[in-house]
Amino acid sequence: MNRVKNKVAIVTGGASGLGKSSAILLAREGAKIVVTDIDEEDGKKVVQQIKANGGEAIFIKQDVSKEDEWKNVIETTLKTFGKLHILANSAGIGLGGTVEEVTLEDWKNLIDVNLNGTFLGTQYGIKGMKETGEGGSIINFSSIEGLIGDPNLPAYNASKGGVTIFTKSAALHCARQGYGIRINSIHPAYISDTNGRKFSESSR
Ligand SMILES: NC(=O)c1ccc[n+]([C@@H]2O[C@H](COP(=O)([O-])OP(=O)(O)OC[C@H]3O[C@@H](n4cnc5c(N)ncnc54)[C@H](O)[C@@H]3O)[C@@H](O)[C@H]2O)c1
Repeated sequence: MNRVKNKVAIVTGGASGLGKSSAILLAREGAKIVVTDIDEEDGKKVVQQIKANGGEAIFIKQDVSKEDEWKNVIETTLKTFGKLHILANSAGIGLGGTVEEVTLEDWKNLIDVNLNGTFLGTQYGIKGMKETGEGGSIINFSSIEGLIGDPNLPAYNASKGGVTIFTKSAALHCARQGYGIRINSIHPAYISDTNGRKFSESSR
């Protein structure tokens, strides 16, 4: 059963790891994919891989913490594929160090990407799906670290805990409005074999 055949999906952080795997799997199941990432080189390689397997995909360079770049991603997606049904907010960064060690600058940077980026993605994703008018699904990548506390991941815990509860709020809003847009957070444990290179929760 191809539940996503001909659906249009944006995958942030699609150049690496879980985002890359999600983009490739969604394409294999028939979705048209917009891969976004700050890493242009690897993002384009994922698009090439999808096309080589017979799928449809484009790459858009995007920093998820920048609002104008979200505007561009939604506009370009609608211009290219005409619709938006799925948004996987996978882009994320990690940061070790106890509450006594983490600097305010590093804390703010992580919150900007993991939490503010997910907020912007959800807000602009809803906008794009409302314009499409066919409902949709937003998947926010939280973590087991968004459910529990870890002495060495205070900023990451705060960002992913924020993603967890923010997602519930946004989902309830969409349900109340009757948009037909589902918003869920997912909470993976430690996955080292992601085809990714940069982020690993297990590197604490
Ligand atoms: N791997 C794990 O064990 C694990 C467990 C739980 C949750 N997660 C979450 O899953 C998501 C993906 O993790 P992963 O292991 O695949 O990591 P990864 O490092 O392999 O991939 C993350 C991608 O996000 C991109 N990125 C970083 N900052 C960005 C920004 N500002 N704008 C756009 N793109 C940006 C990176 O370039 C990279 O391609 C993250 O949100 C992470 O917190 C991972």
